[in-house]
Amino acid sequence: MNRPVRSGGEFSIDDADLSSTSLMAVLTETASDDPWSAEALARILALPRSFGLIAHEAGQPLGFLLAQCAAGESEIINLAVAPAARRQGIGGALVAGAMARARRMGAQTMFLEVAGDNATARALYDRIGFVQVGIRSGYYRKEHNNYTDALILRRELITTRGN
Ligand SMILES: CC(C)(COP(=O)(O)OP(=O)(O)OC[C@H]1O[C@@H](n2cnc3c(N)ncnc32)[C@H](O)[C@@H]1OP(=O)(O)O)[C@@H](O)C(=O)NCCC(=O)NCCS
Repeated sequence: MNRPVRSGGEFSIDDADLSSTSLMAVLTETASDDPWSAEALARILALPRSFGLIAHEAGQPLGFLLAQCAAGESEIINLAVAPAARRQGIGGALVAGAMARARRMGAQTMFLEVAGDNATARALYDRIGFVQVGIRSGYYRKEHNNYTDALILRRELITTRGN
């Protein structure tokens, strides 16, 4: 169990298993504009090269991350932190945990997709060193028939400095 410290106290990050998917689904409802069902989350988590991390404090789920690894590459599939727990390092700790796990699984790079108008998530990934390597124009459908781009970001996991 990983036990980072945040400004509001201490939280733990544990592996998510299939019993965690209901909690993860609630987090996608309350913490993002892209709700996922527990079944959809379970389908991904059950794949052999998938893994999930869940952050919690005193049994209260605060955030989660879902990722996959294959052929030397990894991808963050979903990440959400409860609104009341934001800006306390939880999202960053989940991404750092996923990078470490993906490295152990043999991945050399990590990819993710983020909406171009998601300034908060872009700030988080920018700080961690992800760089934009692609764009899918008008990929996400928003309210009132508006569309926004999906940005494809990449972070090298193995560098000459060994970080
Ligand atoms: C994006 C998200 C996961 C960030 O989680 P978080 O726990 O608040 O992130 P952290 O506290 O670890 O933030 C780390 C850094 O990211 C940046 N950051 C995070 N939130 C920010 C904000 N609202 N404004 C500007 N920068 C921000 C900052 O650099 C921050 O470091 P700092 O607080 O020391 O300045 C969270 O806002 C969220 O769940 N959003 C909705 C779902 C979502 O967009 N998921 C990503 C899909 S790709």
